[in-house]
Amino acid sequence: MIFYFSGTGNSAWAARQLARLTDDEAYDITNLKELPDIENAKQIGFVFPVYAWGVPEIMADFAKKLPKPQVFTFGVCTCGGDAGLTMKQFSKLYPLRSSYSLRMPNNYIIGSDPDNEDEILQKITAAREELERMAQELHRQERIYRVHEGALPGVKSRLVNFGFNKFARNAKPFFAGDSCNGCGQCAGNCPAHAITLRDGKPVWAGQCFQCLRCINECPCQAIQYGKATAGRRRYTIRAYLPRGEQ
Ligand SMILES: Cc1cc2nc3c(=O)[nH]c(=O)nc-3n(C[C@H](O)[C@H](O)[C@H](O)COP(=O)(O)O)c2cc1C
Ligand code: SF4
Ligand code: SF4
Repeated sequence: MIFYFSGTGNSAWAARQLARLTDDEAYDITNLKELPDIENAKQIGFVFPVYAWGVPEIMADFAKKLPKPQVFTFGVCTCGGDAGLTMKQFSKLYPLRSSYSLRMPNNYIIGSDPDNEDEILQKITAAREELERMAQELHRQERIYRVHEGALPGVKSRLVNFGFNKFARNAKPFFAGDSCNGCGQCAGNCPAHAITLRDGKPVWAGQCFQCLRCINECPCQAIQYGKATAGRRRYTIRAYLPRGEQ
């Protein structure tokens, strides 16, 4: 059983690819009504994005609650660049036999423009190869730690991550501009249920996961985050996948 959380599709795609390659099933943890029955699982895997060199809170909460049977376990974090101590921190919540990071297109458009088209396509191609390699290692149930931690992982995963969770997860800077057509997609798809429609326009509550699904997937590109995102391209993996993988 492979459990995933994903804002803009990278981790969902990686989880589904791994499930296909290891003859398993992938489950979106935001669709689970209760803790899953994992009694007959032959392996337990987790796939999720890196947020400020750490584990997204929603995935950390899920891992803490999930029972820990004696089966093969692995985790994959997807990241735009480097993962810091994310997987070591996750292993303290849920012991992992194998840990990986997988470089994928960067969706953090609050910080900078997303990768350009060539970079996006190159990263997805390289990720496909890495997923094939991972799947072979998972079949053999090898103990692997292949995580690109990057520079100063301790500082990033402790100090910066603390600041991110304390101060940066504020949804208040989100707003919808004039091009919003009131379709409600952002509200319906928000995994934190942080968005409601008022008078046909979305409004955001205080705290959210910062998954950036709303801003990246709005069909009208109407959503902004303060002044940071005006004129910036949006990113979601769907545009880069063949139909059968979307
Ligand atoms: C709030 C936030 C923080 C992020 N922090 C990092 C980071 O610390 N290091 C990194 O390499 N990528 C970072 N990223 C990029 C994502 O981890 C990366 O694009 C990931 O593959 C997105 O996965 P998803 O499409 O499944 O949501 C961040 C993205 C977001 C939205
Ligand atoms: S998805 Fe975009 S267009 Fe639709 S309601 Fe939300 S902001 Fe408006
Ligand atoms: S408000 Fe937007 S960024 Fe925050 S959790 Fe919902 S979809 Fe993700």
